[in-house]
Amino acid sequence: MTRYLITSALPYINGVKHLGNLVGSMLPADLYSRYRRAKGDETLFICATDEHGTPAELAALEAGQDVATYCAEQHAIQKTLGEGFGLSWDYFGRSSSPQNAALTQHLARVLWQNGHLEVRTTKQVYSHAEKRFLPDRYVIGTCPHCGYDRARGDQCENCTRVLDPTDLINPRSALSGSPEIEIRDSAHLFLKQSNFVEQLRTWIDSHEHDWPDLVLSIARKWLDEGLNDRGITRDLEWGIPVPEDIGDGQLKGKVFYVWFDAPIEYIGATKELTDSKGLPDAEWQKWWRPENAKDVTYLEFMAKDNVPFHTVGFPITIMGSGENWKLVDRIKGFNWLTYYGGKFSTSQKRGVFMNTALDLLPADYWRWWLMANAPESADSSFTWEHFAAVVNKDLADVLGNFVNRVTKFTVSRFDGKVPGEGEYGDEEKALIADLDKRVAQYAAYLEDIEYRKALAELRAIWVAGNEYLTKAAPWTHVKTDRVKAAVGVRMGLNLVHLFGHLSWPVIPAAAKKIHEAIQSAPEIIPWPDQPMAAFLDQLEAGQAVTPPDMLFAKITDEQLAEWKTRFGGEG
Ligand code: 2FM
Ligand code: ZN
Repeated sequence: MTRYLITSALPYINGVKHLGNLVGSMLPADLYSRYRRAKGDETLFICATDEHGTPAELAALEAGQDVATYCAEQHAIQKTLGEGFGLSWDYFGRSSSPQNAALTQHLARVLWQNGHLEVRTTKQVYSHAEKRFLPDRYVIGTCPHCGYDRARGDQCENCTRVLDPTDLINPRSALSGSPEIEIRDSAHLFLKQSNFVEQLRTWIDSHEHDWPDLVLSIARKWLDEGLNDRGITRDLEWGIPVPEDIGDGQLKGKVFYVWFDAPIEYIGATKELTDSKGLPDAEWQKWWRPENAKDVTYLEFMAKDNVPFHTVGFPITIMGSGENWKLVDRIKGFNWLTYYGGKFSTSQKRGVFMNTALDLLPADYWRWWLMANAPESADSSFTWEHFAAVVNKDLADVLGNFVNRVTKFTVSRFDGKVPGEGEYGDEEKALIADLDKRVAQYAAYLEDIEYRKALAELRAIWVAGNEYLTKAAPWTHVKTDRVKAAVGVRMGLNLVHLFGHLSWPVIPAAAKKIHEAIQSAPEIIPWPDQPMAAFLDQLEAGQAVTPPDMLFAKITDEQLAEWKTRFGGEG
């Protein structure tokens, strides 16, 4: 039996995430984790906040807090919101944990001992006003190529040329505007990525058939452009300190670069989990050390900008350690979700954020729309109009109404009990045959992590149920042929039960309510066994049925208008 290790790209600590962050990492990883658990597979779903780097320092500064306090607060907020969205993490850790520090320092140490790290003197910008080094992009000035006067020290936004802060004319601090900056020599650790070109290419090629094109093409582009050695330390206060035995005493006071330690936190958070339960190291190592984890399939979920770090950066850390660590098996990469064709933006507060989303509607409304419209083969665009149309049709009309009709009719005409009279006939058999194919197809799409197709199939399954019921029309027959009506209702109730099972990975709260109409719902609602003939004829005659409260309310025109005004429609 395969065990599944699933990680979602770690959300940055600096503020509540928006739907665009959610759609490409945490939510799809959750859907897959739930599917695996439903199938009965041993599954570990790991996530954490990504807490280091300049953005975290600056966000804390803006909030008037010290960084550690800021991060602790924001972690708690993100955890609560994630849980509110139904994200079923086995653990939601913190990259600032002692576990991650120890692992990061360990991996850097073995890279150093293996000769893959080198100390180099670099030129860094020091700002007297802030009494700190500034990362390149926090230095602004006039572009020497196009004359744009707010070009950043890493790249000119106007002409897109890649820059060095020393290229800028009239350079100044982007934080204070102070021109009192100077270039200082600063020693840093570089990872000699060029040592790994061959090994990396062989590994990436070995995934020719199981990585999506988006992921393969990004990974190969980086390889083909030639791998530069990568600076893995920074002149910051907040971060994991470089241990003294690395770098011949030249790296005092430096910390690791956030992108060096963040992916290591996938392992770190697993150790945070087992430590929190007082379990021995063997317990986290059974996921991460291949000698103990031969049966583990490791999947990573992320947006496309993260792909280089997961196909090149992190694997090189692992390979260079010369130790046995689990490398990723499957990577699912996503394109961008836009807000009316433009960017969701944390800094400009543009779009819908996780906290406001949950204030408006329960998580399942968002989960359904986001996964049914996941930016898989291309970018997709969130608009309130489309969101409302999809919710009203798929969730309220097709699914909610079906459950409502069947269960209420059972109460009004069959005493709230599954009717036992009559046998399934041709119509029921045709439906069962159709659903056998569809359920298998739905499962196959989930296995392939093709969510748009998977959810289209799930919707088609709900539609098939509706069409059956319309034809079976028990409300018409009940007056003249009670047995015929009973057969329709019994099948209808079995369908409700089936929908509760199939919908759970995607819309877990609604699935639970649906399931409870029939019987109490387990924590993990298992995948239904095929063939469908057995599953769809398993409810006992006489079993009680309780209609759920309203499953999905329609979004009204008034709400739609209000939300468009409040959040800004049309970009
Ligand atoms: O792009 C991001 O949001 C990063 N915080 C993702 C980090 S993923 C991992 F490597 F930690
Ligand atoms: Zn320019």
